[in-house]
Amino acid sequence: MSSSGPEPETVGDSRIIKCDAYDLGSQLRGARADLVLTSPPYWGLRTYGLEHDAAVLKRWRAIAGPEEGPPSYAWYRDNGGVLGLEPYPEWYVAHLVEILNGLQPALDEEGSMWVNLGDTYFARWASIRNGGRQGLGGAERSRRRTPAGGFRHDKQLLMIPARFAIAMQEAGWILRNDVIWAKPHVAPRPERDRLRLSHEHFFHFVQRRPGGRPRYYYDLEEVEDGALDVIRSSVRAGSGGHSATFHEELIGPRIRSCSPPSGIVLDPFCGTGSTVVTAVRNGRIGIGAELNPEFAAHAAARLAGALGSEAPAAA
Ligand SMILES: C[S@@+](CC[C@H](N)C(=O)[O-])C[C@H]1O[C@@H](n2cnc3c(N)ncnc32)[C@H](O)[C@@H]1O
Repeated sequence: MSSSGPEPETVGDSRIIKCDAYDLGSQLRGARADLVLTSPPYWGLRTYGLEHDAAVLKRWRAIAGPEEGPPSYAWYRDNGGVLGLEPYPEWYVAHLVEILNGLQPALDEEGSMWVNLGDTYFARWASIRNGGRQGLGGAERSRRRTPAGGFRHDKQLLMIPARFAIAMQEAGWILRNDVIWAKPHVAPRPERDRLRLSHEHFFHFVQRRPGGRPRYYYDLEEVEDGALDVIRSSVRAGSGGHSATFHEELIGPRIRSCSPPSGIVLDPFCGTGSTVVTAVRNGRIGIGAELNPEFAAHAAARLAGALGSEAPAAA
């Protein structure tokens, strides 16, 4: 474990930082996490109230030409792009890997990273919601035109979780589990030509150790009965106007098995703060980053409740 650097973290240092996940590492004052556990925005599904400028693709083409690969996340963001609303899934995968890789210096060498990700079907006219978890109905939608081409074809299941996991492996991470989160009750769908999507992935990554096998904290006593890589758990509406939320029964076992007591747990896309609150309830330090100020404030209030104190403003 865990704390090194000039200002060691204590339980009182649990906090929500209103910032881009990309900038979280620089906000940590030298603290090192034992566990990163997160659910980023999925590709092409939701805005989370963040303003995206669709002209970012035209701007990139003008600089790079049509054959060029994805821009860096910093360029994309500076030109109005929002994570999850990239014009191409390839850009999204590259940006997500870049952001998570950027947290590696802030992760203990025996630390873990758990990433929850769901898939998307390609549609040239895609329907984007402001909020909402896959499998829950409702929420307002808008339409956007998405460029087709290559494997991007109408009705295609894009396999984004698999593309992401492979890109993480290529970036040097070791994949230890691809846990399937099976959702027994999902909303009905209008399609008559496929089964309903009722699972998401929860990937467990650890780090390479030069000259040796990876070594990381793991307490098997703390996982679900049977220690299987399929977990059945129903989706539920969340709090604070945010319905893509984690629940404790899914993340509690990950936190207890993959971080030591009083260890530091980071969630770079913390939404309403479920990871941070669950970390604190389990005797860990929880630190979350969230870009949407309303969610950050809600997460800060939930954290204050968990710590039994006044709501600290999101920093
Ligand atoms: C799937 S939700 C996470 C929900 C969270 N697990 C919970 O239980 O509430 C993803 C969150 O990432 C936030 N977000 C999107 N882009 C971000 C970025 N670049 N940096 C930080 N947060 C971001 C969204 O506002 C959204 O709340």
